[in-house]
Amino acid sequence: AEQAGQEHFDAIIAADQRIEPRDWMPEKYRRTLIRQISQHAHSEIIGMQPEANWITRAPSLKRKAILTAKVQDEAGHGLYLYAAAQTLGITRDEMTMQLIEGRARYSSIFNYHTPTWADMGAIGWLVDGAAICNQVPLCRASYGPYGRAMVRICKEESFHQRQGFEILMELSNGTPEQKQMAQDAVDRWYWPALMMFGPSDEHSPNSAQSMAWKIKRFSNDELRNRFVGMCVPQFEALGLECPDKDLRFDEETGTWITGEIDWDEFNAILDGRGPANTQRLRHRREAHESGAWVREAAAEYARKQRERDQQ
Ligand code: 3HC
Repeated sequence: AEQAGQEHFDAIIAADQRIEPRDWMPEKYRRTLIRQISQHAHSEIIGMQPEANWITRAPSLKRKAILTAKVQDEAGHGLYLYAAAQTLGITRDEMTMQLIEGRARYSSIFNYHTPTWADMGAIGWLVDGAAICNQVPLCRASYGPYGRAMVRICKEESFHQRQGFEILMELSNGTPEQKQMAQDAVDRWYWPALMMFGPSDEHSPNSAQSMAWKIKRFSNDELRNRFVGMCVPQFEALGLECPDKDLRFDEETGTWITGEIDWDEFNAILDGRGPANTQRLRHRREAHESGAWVREAAAEYARKQRERDQQ
């Protein structure tokens, strides 16, 4: 049966079709999907914190409403992705405990502080822009529930990116202080946004297998390059400087050559030693603990329902 299962699995992957929850799949395929999808979900949930910091401080009611809608969207993205991961046999509680106990990764990008309103623009434009580059190919991931979740998420990401770009455009065309605030925020978020795509290809242990299984459609460096290429004309339109002074286009290879990325900073964050790692996990743990009574009440209500149904 294992042999037949493997052949069937290989044929589906080769034909660029979808593996569904009830299909036979190699244990390693299941495990790497649980790893990637749960970490993606954790990223969405933790990613609510940096922006939530500005919901009560937004400069106008319009901006407050837009930011609230975006943060709510991120919560929904997290729920789609946790639900997709649960189809692989892991429970929501297990994933939550892995995150809270510091045993699961989430995107490095959310371990930075958001000191000014312009950071809301830089996050929308750069972080959600990078997320779009990374997530559009994931719509074609070989695992059905993941690809389908991505289709819905990508539709909302374009609104996220657009509202961020608009915030920066407004500031950049405002007073000199506002323009400087926008430039400072872009300086803070540009390099960390490049790190979102993961280590360089030669230092990416999961890429080869993930690409063979058509989970990952393009390599980390390819998507990073695509993102940089998208940003260059938008820096022009914004009238802001790209923080990478060594950035140049290589006509021969048709790719962007970036300046040095600080992989020590990246690795420090993955080790939990970033500017806001401790704060982000503490906040998530406290939210989980203060919500315990709701879960207990719902579980008790469900138990009573079952008892009543059995009478
Ligand atoms: N932050 C944290 N960890 C990272 C990372 C990052 N930016 N980039 C890589 N890593 C980790 C990987 O998880 C892996 O560790 P693990 O084996 O313990 O999980 C290790 O570094 C080596 O990296 P690889 O390239 O070998 O790992 P992957 O093949 O998994 O590639 C990835 C990394 C490109 C992030 C891939 O996992 C992926 O595409 N994930 C789904 C997309 C995602 O998580 N995006 C997060 C962006 S935040 C977001 O989307 C919210 C948006 O609404 C703003």
